[in-house]
Amino acid sequence: MNADERGKGIVEAQDLVKVYGDGAEVRALNGLTMTVARGEFVAVMGPSGSGKSTLLHILGALDRPTSGEVWVDGQNLARIRDLDTFRARTVGFVFQLHNLIPTLTARENVEVPMMGQPVSRRERRRRAEELLERVGLRDRMNHLPNQMSGGERQRVAIARALANRPALLLADEPTGNLDSQSGAEIVALMRELNRDLGTTIIVVTHDPSVARRTDRILLMRDGRIVGERRSEEMME
Ligand SMILES: Nc1ncnc2c1ncn2[C@@H]1O[C@H](COP(=O)(O)OP(=O)(O)OP(=O)(O)O)[C@@H](O)[C@H]1O
Ligand SMILES: [Mg+2]
Repeated sequence: MNADERGKGIVEAQDLVKVYGDGAEVRALNGLTMTVARGEFVAVMGPSGSGKSTLLHILGALDRPTSGEVWVDGQNLARIRDLDTFRARTVGFVFQLHNLIPTLTARENVEVPMMGQPVSRRERRRRAEELLERVGLRDRMNHLPNQMSGGERQRVAIARALANRPALLLADEPTGNLDSQSGAEIVALMRELNRDLGTTIIVVTHDPSVARRTDRILLMRDGRIVGERRSEEMME
């Protein structure tokens, strides 16, 4: 990718290939190219095994591509020296299973990503409370994960992902374990955060009712993007 091609999107992936294993090789990504504009809310859909989670892991620098280039927020991921700082500050992750720490309250869970960042204890607490209010959990700050519903736990996970004000939120089937009502609430919340905070969001989902709330749907198959739809088309 040359200099002119960069900077159009907050996410630019060019010819991504990811090969797992050395015996029976799996080509999880096979020449994937995509651009996501700053402030967009994008869904990624595709059959099981098409490479959706692999793609998110690479965009979030949790894994490296076998070949190809990824730029996130103007940074070439292959050139970043301090990946921990990149992961902590530039991207937030939400997974299907919330992965909250069971012995910490909602507020403490949201504070975790701010530890090790230059944020005072007081500011950490203030920000955690503000985020929990924003996701509708003002009354649940001091609850432990097992004292909350699945939808509430996922809200805590979203608040935690936003703790360091990332430019990009990556969510891998965040409603996969929820009933349809809670799932609808989670996607409505993501829409609101996208609009109010300007956070770019990429959500992997199998659920058309989640995908149609986004701006654009990327369709994956066999490790590539094979099509895209404006989300309004999904409603018809
Ligand atoms: N760590 C790994 N080692 C080897 N193969 C893997 C690994 N992770 C994923 N794969 C393989 O890579 C392919 C893509 O997997 P990936 O998890 O990205 O798919 P997915 O689209 O997220 O599927 P799902 O919808 O089931 O979550 C699959 O064939 C999978 O078996
Ligand atoms: Mg997956």
